[in-house]
Amino acid sequence: MSGKHHNSQIRAPDAAGIAAAVNTLQGGQLVALPTETVYGLAARADCAEAVAAIYRAKGRPDFNPLIVHVGTIEHAATIARLDDRVRGLADAFWPGPLTLVLPLQKEAPISPAVTAGLSTVAIRCPSHPVMRRVLLDSALALAAPSANRSGAVSPTHAAHVAASLGDKVSLILDGGACAAGIESTIVALREGGGWQILRPGPIAVAQIAAILGEDEQEAASAGIEAPGQLASHYSPGKPIRLNAINAASDEFFIGFGPVAGMVNLSTGGDLAEAASRLYACLHRAAAAIEPRIAVAPIPERGIGAAIKDRLRRAAA
Ligand code: TXA
Ligand code: MG
Repeated sequence: MSGKHHNSQIRAPDAAGIAAAVNTLQGGQLVALPTETVYGLAARADCAEAVAAIYRAKGRPDFNPLIVHVGTIEHAATIARLDDRVRGLADAFWPGPLTLVLPLQKEAPISPAVTAGLSTVAIRCPSHPVMRRVLLDSALALAAPSANRSGAVSPTHAAHVAASLGDKVSLILDGGACAAGIESTIVALREGGGWQILRPGPIAVAQIAAILGEDEQEAASAGIEAPGQLASHYSPGKPIRLNAINAASDEFFIGFGPVAGMVNLSTGGDLAEAASRLYACLHRAAAAIEPRIAVAPIPERGIGAAIKDRLRRAAA
């Protein structure tokens, strides 16, 4: 199958490609594949060696837990303890870009490395048809972080994965560009009641509050609960200046709306379009000859909050 000259293999997600992905995953190997948010680097969540291979490939610190992806809420119930709030959120947003941090089920069939030893587990049911097909055909729960080297910009195209992890993964399914373009919203539901957003994303805080019928609670501890939310993340490897109206000659300029830039996140000022193009523009900026990056102002409403969150971390 994979040629001698290339360790990586980009394949179309046709029936043969899906079948190859399912086989590879069942055999405990890694597969990169598209989700509606970003490309994921997947392994079967019940296999310690397979999960260890994810951490190795990404260079990810082992204290940073992974999200478990499932095809159905019934499958989720074997891994996490679900209450009525979960069912309400799942009815509204699953399959889709919402990750829930929930109490781990006793005897959950997942490797302890997935949760980095925590008593909670992050779980999501993704909507991308390719990821869904693989989940349902394999009947596996898949641990899948974003398919990039740890700390680097997330991939929204198969070519981004190949450039970042190409020698570490034998199979990449090419599903084209990811529609949402930024990682899922992560919500922690507390057992005693209450909830917090651990990572802003495509589903806005107001949409979560509307389903749960109560506002977000202050975090009880000041500690970093989603270690992936450490300040420096999503880094293109160059200094970034935010809220720029003009760019210096040594800056690659990412525009938005009327601030034209060299590339523009959305000339019409559409925030969903800007999110979907954000990482592709950061990848271009990383590869450009200019040693610095400037980014035009982005409003913080709706998904703009998640865009600003990623840009602040990229600039940190
Ligand atoms: O959209 C997404 O969520 C993508 C696609 C591939 O599904 N995945 C993704 O995974 O963004 P990753 O590994 O890049 O980010 C997972 C985040 C990290 O910030 C991690 O710390 C947090 O989820 N996390 C995982 N388990 C957790 C837990 N039990 N408690 C708190 N945070 C957790
Ligand atoms: Mg990531």
